[in-house]
Amino acid sequence: MKRVAILISGGGSNMVKLVESMTGDHPARACLVASNDPEAGGLKKAAEMGIATAAVDHRLFKGDREAFEAALREHIDASQPDILCLAGFMRILTPSFIEAYQGRMLNIHPSLLPKYKGLNTHQRALDAGDTEAGCTVHEVTPALDDGPILGQARVPIEAEDTAETLAARVLVQEHRLYPEALRRFAAGERSKFEL
Ligand code: GAR
Repeated sequence: MKRVAILISGGGSNMVKLVESMTGDHPARACLVASNDPEAGGLKKAAEMGIATAAVDHRLFKGDREAFEAALREHIDASQPDILCLAGFMRILTPSFIEAYQGRMLNIHPSLLPKYKGLNTHQRALDAGDTEAGCTVHEVTPALDDGPILGQARVPIEAEDTAETLAARVLVQEHRLYPEALRRFAAGERSKFEL
C-alpha cells in the first residue's frame, strides 16, 4: 500500500476528494495533510476524516524558504510518504525540495497546461478569448507548472463566464481528475489520459 502526503494552503476541496478516493482496493492511503497556513480550512477537514495533520506557518520564517522547507520536510518525512500531492499548495518550492521528492510528487493546476502557468489562470483564459479551459495533473519538476502531464480535463467557456464561474466549473472537473490521476500514478501507470 502506497502512502500519500498532501500539501494544502486553503479550503482543501481537492484534498478531501483525494482522501475520500483512497479506500477499498485503491493502491494508496493518505498518511498526512500538511499546510503552510495553520488556519487553512482543509486541516480541520482532514482531522475530521482521521488523517494526521501538520502546519508550518511560512510567515514565521520571514522569507527564509530553505528554513521553512526544512521544517515542512521534517513532518513530511516523518510520515514516510511514497507520493506527495500538492493540492492548492500556494508556496513556490525550491529546487532542492523538489529534487528530494521528484518522481513521486504530483500537482493539480487550474489550466490546460502548458497554457497559463502561474496565477490568475481563469482570467487569462477569458482575456485570451479561449473557447475552452480545464485543469491538469502533472509531475512536479523544478520549473514552475512544467513537469510531465499525467491527465487533463476540459470544460467549455461560455459567453457569460467570469473568472469566478469558470473557476467553479473547472473545480468540479479537478475533483474528478485528481483522484483518477493519483490512482493511476499509485498503480504505476504513467500514460497521459483525458477525462
Ligand atoms: C484549486 O483550483 C487548484 O487547482 C488551485 O488552487 C485551488 C485549490 O482549491 N491550485 C493552484 O492554483 C496551484 N498554483 P482547494 O483548496 O479547494 O483544493
